[in-house]
Amino acid sequence: MKALILSGGKGTRLRPLTYTTAKQLIPVANKPILEFVMEQVRGADIVDIGVVISPETGQQVKDAIGGGERWGARVTYIMQDASSGLAHAVKTARSFLVDSPFLMFLGDNLIQGGVSRMVKDFINSSADSFIQLKQVGNPGQFGVAVLDEKNRVVKLIEKPKEPPSNLALVGIYLFNSAVHGAIDRIRPSWRGELEITDAIQEMIDSGCRVDASILEGWWLDTGKKDDILEANRVVLDEYARPEINGAVDQLSSVTGRVEIGRGSRIKNSIIRGPAVIGENVVINNSFIGPYTALGKESKLENVSIEHSVVLNNCFLKDVERIEDSLIGNNTRVSKKKDRHKAVRLFLGDDSEVFV
Ligand code: G1P
Repeated sequence: MKALILSGGKGTRLRPLTYTTAKQLIPVANKPILEFVMEQVRGADIVDIGVVISPETGQQVKDAIGGGERWGARVTYIMQDASSGLAHAVKTARSFLVDSPFLMFLGDNLIQGGVSRMVKDFINSSADSFIQLKQVGNPGQFGVAVLDEKNRVVKLIEKPKEPPSNLALVGIYLFNSAVHGAIDRIRPSWRGELEITDAIQEMIDSGCRVDASILEGWWLDTGKKDDILEANRVVLDEYARPEINGAVDQLSSVTGRVEIGRGSRIKNSIIRGPAVIGENVVINNSFIGPYTALGKESKLENVSIEHSVVLNNCFLKDVERIEDSLIGNNTRVSKKKDRHKAVRLFLGDDSEVFV
C-alpha cells in the first residue's frame, strides 16, 4: 500500500496568505496541516508516500517535509505542472504508483481518528475503491454521493447545483489500479479539470465495486479562512495539553489547557485555554482567549485576542479586541486613535495595518 498526498494547487480561496505560503503549510494549533496529514498516513502504517507538488509552492513543501525521515517515511516528490484536477494528479503520479493500491489524501483535509481503520478494511475487502462521506449542510460545494440501500455508491457528482443528497466526499480515498484505466477514459469537467469524482463514477459504470462509509467524527477541509479557524478550534479542543515551558510572572494567570513554548515570557497577562503559544513569544499586559494559536517569535502588547490564528514573528499592539482572525507571518498590527474597538482580520504575510 502506498499513499499519495496532494499538496499542490494555488489556494486561491485563501489569498492573500497563499501568495506566499502553500495552503497545506498554514498551521492549525501551530502545526502545518500537512504534518498532521503525514502523521495520519503513517498511522495507517504506510511508508512509501508520494507528495504531489506545484511549481508555485513545491519548494516550500519540500523544505517542510524533506525526505519524510521525521515520520519514518520515504517521500517521493511528484511535480504537477498545472492545476488540472485531482485525477490529473493521479495520472502524473503513475510512475510512482505503478500498479500498487494507494491511499489518496488531500493535503488540506483531516479527519477525526485518522485513516488506519479504513485502510485495513480496504485491504481486507474486494472493493476496487473506498470513499469516505460526511453529512454536510452545504453539499453543493463538494463532490456528492448517492448510496443504495446496501450503502454501495451508485452515483457521484462534483459540485452539483441541485445536490441529490447531503453526503459530501471527504478528500480521502482508497484505490486499486483500476482507477488508472478510468482516468484515461474521462474528459475534463466544466471547470476544465480531470475530476477524481468523475473517475470514480467511471469505475462504477464499468462494473467496479466502490464502497463507502459515513464519517461520524469531525472532518476538516481547510480551504478557506473560516475553515482554518474552525480547524484550529477543533484541533485545540482535541489535542491541546497544559505544558508551560516559558516564564509566567506573578501578575499573570494561565487557566485551562495552554501550551507555552520555550523562551516565551508572559507578563501581567491572562491566558485562557485551549490555546497554544509558540517559542520566544513575549506577551505583555494582554488577554489571550480560548482557541488562539500564536506562532513563534511574536510580540503582543496591550492586546485582547481570541479565536484566532497568528503566524510567526508578528507584532500586535494596543488593539482592544481581535477575534476570528487569521494573521500572516511578519505582520504588524497597531491602533490608530479612536478607530474600531473590535476587529476581525485576514492578513497576508508582511502586512502592516493600523486599525
Ligand atoms: C475536492 C473534490 C471534491 C471533494 C473536496 C473535499 O474539491 O473535487 O469532490 O469533496 O475536494 O475537500 P476541491 O477542493 O477541488 O474544490
